Amino acid sequence: MQNDQLTFAQIGCGYWGPNLLRNFSSLKNCRVKYLVDSSAERRHFVETNFPATRAVADLAVVLADAEVNAVIIATPAESHFALALAVLQAGKHVFVEKPLATKVSEVDILAAEAAQRGLVVMTGHTFLYNSAVRYVKAMIERGDLGDVRYIYSQRLNLGRIRSDIDALWNFAPHDISIIQYWLGDPEPASVVRLGMDFIQPGIDDVVFLNIKYPNKVMANIHVSWLDPQKTRKMVVVGSQKMVIYDDAADDKIAIYDKGIDRKAVLGQNMDYDKQGMPTFAYRAGDVLLPQINFVEPLRTEAQHFAECIRTGAPCITGIDHARKVVSILEQAGR
Ligand SMILES: NC(=O)c1ccc[n+]([C@@H]2O[C@H](COP(=O)([O-])OP(=O)(O)OC[C@H]3O[C@@H](n4cnc5c(N)ncnc54)[C@H](O)[C@@H]3O)[C@@H](O)[C@H]2O)c1
Repeated sequence: MQNDQLTFAQIGCGYWGPNLLRNFSSLKNCRVKYLVDSSAERRHFVETNFPATRAVADLAVVLADAEVNAVIIATPAESHFALALAVLQAGKHVFVEKPLATKVSEVDILAAEAAQRGLVVMTGHTFLYNSAVRYVKAMIERGDLGDVRYIYSQRLNLGRIRSDIDALWNFAPHDISIIQYWLGDPEPASVVRLGMDFIQPGIDDVVFLNIKYPNKVMANIHVSWLDPQKTRKMVVVGSQKMVIYDDAADDKIAIYDKGIDRKAVLGQNMDYDKQGMPTFAYRAGDVLLPQINFVEPLRTEAQHFAECIRTGAPCITGIDHARKVVSILEQAGR
């Protein structure tokens, strides 16, 4: 099964879809036979730019074709659940762009359907296939940072405003997915959202999401499409070291050997001085900018989906991970 030919179809080719179509089309022993889009203009785009792929308006054509092994869904979030369920019920594996669905109850229905039929469900949490994100994960796992104390992220920009979902549901699946991955997918102790709508009533343009985890770990996610600067930054503060991951910078990772320790007092069993004011030792060592070997994350992601289908390997961004992301978004509310 390792090198078996795989035939894909894709639903949706708007802003993001062409990136998926390009990557899935270029995988070894794979082809994308169909592209389904309700827009005639987008079908024309695919016919012009991806001549090996047939653009159709009707999903039924794809679902009825026994040659199609798997379907990639790159439509707006609200449509993911119904489309993914139809694909699974047709006996095909499914790759769904983030978020997998808009409710945990929908994720559970997809999970049951996939388990019953032995099919792969993967979500496009792209950043877990990003070399820089994986580098930070390896550092955390090795204990290089000490205990992770808090993480904050800023995913900001001006524009590409959506009307179907707010800035939290649009951007934060990335940050939540990365933070959950770094921390080992824990269950949050609390999720608190603070957001505001300025441009369209009821659709927040800016949101601050605060997540508290057990064992005194905190995360804050700031997302906005109403910001003067494009920012894609995450900061991890550990008890030993601190890391800045800046996806927009040339040096994506900067490791700071910085921290503050409570000073022990000699002559008192090396214990902290209980009398008087505590004293602190500040560490401000070197800054390391490690070389990251960058591979396009979408390519790694597409390869992983094909590998999971061929070998039955567990999916890094499978149902369990995607469910946690949807659960946190659901707890945050809209
Ligand atoms: N991984 C990432 O970094 C990333 C980045 C951007 C978008 N996305 C995700 O990609 C998905 C698509 O986002 P987008 O910005 O490309 O949206 P979009 O609105 O630009 O494009 C969606 C396309 O799907 C088509 N479509 C919608 N419903 C359909 C249906 N039921 N059947 C057939 N065609 C249908 C539309 O005509 C359109 O061409 C979203 O889930 C989004 O979260 C992921």
